[in-house]
Amino acid sequence: MNESKKKNELEAVLDRIDLSQPEPAEEPMRQYYFMKKARELVEKQQKELGRPLTFCVVTFGCQMNARDSEKLTGVLEEIGYQEIQEETADFVIYNTCTVRENANQRVYGRLGYLHSLKKKNPHMMIALCGCMMQEPHVVEKLKKSYSFVNLIFGTHNIYKFSELIVTALLSGRMVIDIWKDTDKIVEDLPSERKYSFKSGVNIMFGCNNFCSYCIVPYVRGRERSRNPKDIVREIEKLVADGVKEVMLLGQNVNSYGKNLEEPITFAQLLLEIEKIEGLERIRFMTSHPKDLSDELIAVMKNSKKICRHLHLPLQSGSSRILKIMNRHYDKEKYLTLVEKIRAAVPDISLTTDIIVGFPGETEEDFLETMDVVEKVRFDSAFTFIYSKRTGTPAAVMQDQIPEAVIKDRFDRLLAKVQEIGREMSSRDTGTIQEVLVEEQNEHDPHLLTGRMSNNLLVHFPGDPSLIGQMISVHLDECRGFYYMGTPTKA
Ligand code: 5AD
Ligand code: SF4
Repeated sequence: MNESKKKNELEAVLDRIDLSQPEPAEEPMRQYYFMKKARELVEKQQKELGRPLTFCVVTFGCQMNARDSEKLTGVLEEIGYQEIQEETADFVIYNTCTVRENANQRVYGRLGYLHSLKKKNPHMMIALCGCMMQEPHVVEKLKKSYSFVNLIFGTHNIYKFSELIVTALLSGRMVIDIWKDTDKIVEDLPSERKYSFKSGVNIMFGCNNFCSYCIVPYVRGRERSRNPKDIVREIEKLVADGVKEVMLLGQNVNSYGKNLEEPITFAQLLLEIEKIEGLERIRFMTSHPKDLSDELIAVMKNSKKICRHLHLPLQSGSSRILKIMNRHYDKEKYLTLVEKIRAAVPDISLTTDIIVGFPGETEEDFLETMDVVEKVRFDSAFTFIYSKRTGTPAAVMQDQIPEAVIKDRFDRLLAKVQEIGREMSSRDTGTIQEVLVEEQNEHDPHLLTGRMSNNLLVHFPGDPSLIGQMISVHLDECRGFYYMGTPTKA
């Protein structure tokens, strides 16, 4: 089904809604009702102002948030706002992240700027959502010092966005709707994809792992898996609409399906998705080493569509620290897992997340992390300085590490990770690889950028009409973490 047909179907549903009737109780009909109501309000304001109304979605944080922002965009377009990239828009929404403290600080900083814009445009609506809003102290602070914000909601009720917009547009005061948790998953709401040829697909929400440093389980709630039929149906629709690559999203995809009425494993889900005709590539994120099964490794080995890339967060190489982090694996288990994966899929690209400066981390612990980095030889690694998150067990642990010590370890780790990453990234030089062409190069319009199965990018000369196509490219030269190449066929 193409994008316009999908829109027409939603239009037909909206057409049948009678706004003189009370709002329906069941979802998603209730949200369709409010979408139509919001559209009326937006139209009215457009007439008054004599110009179209615009919106801007600003996304902080991870791929889950990026996907949520596509849903926010879908709703805002549906109710008649036009997208722009500037925060001078009439409706600005920040989809926030709180995994590390500096993300929070950035939001407060930018809110000050939004306030100055709102003074010039009193119609402006400012909304905040996402993980940061699930923290009670954040909402308190916003109520006290940022009273110009119109709408605040969290991660569990994002499907209610249309309804919340109507409440905010009508009320003229700060609307706050935060749920502590939910077991609800609402299907069939509009969403607007950033790329026509690839898409994120949520397969589960929340996390049950409670790694001792991490705030995600508190702000994203308990693990809930989507029904496999709904996932397959969504991907089939996406493929009919031109999508070639999907990224299956979840905090811990390896525990997918455990709590469904009819439990299925992540590996079994992948087999179902593999069968979808026309789908060319499957990616997924994030894998927890403790739950990565032999069954999954076998499926990856035999798959024609699963990409040669695995993001496998290490966090620390010290078994002692891993235990305190509540990660449920040790250094040896991680290394054995990597060996098994490489034995099954020899050319796989491995990437990871590492935290430096967890409370109590000694120089010896840190050297264990360096040792794992040297042994595994990751293609790339996201390195993070430990950030104290209020409410997590690690925040009250003795022995928080001094900043200067952390900085020194961080620099040493980063240098090592980059040195190895460069060497690893260049190993395909001289080969021909299939790439999905993603965009025109920002700096040089004669060049296109394509993504390889192993997630690395290659720039090559070509016509923009190739965007969204799978093509073969010869990798001429590796420049650090990307390649320059030549297409083998146009
Ligand atoms: N401090 C630093 N990094 C963190 N991460 C999660 N919580 C914290 C924290 N408190 C990192 C982990 C995770 C990634 C998404 O963010 O490495 O894998
Ligand atoms: Fe956080 Fe651990 Fe859950 Fe990942 S698995 S989201 S690090 S608690």
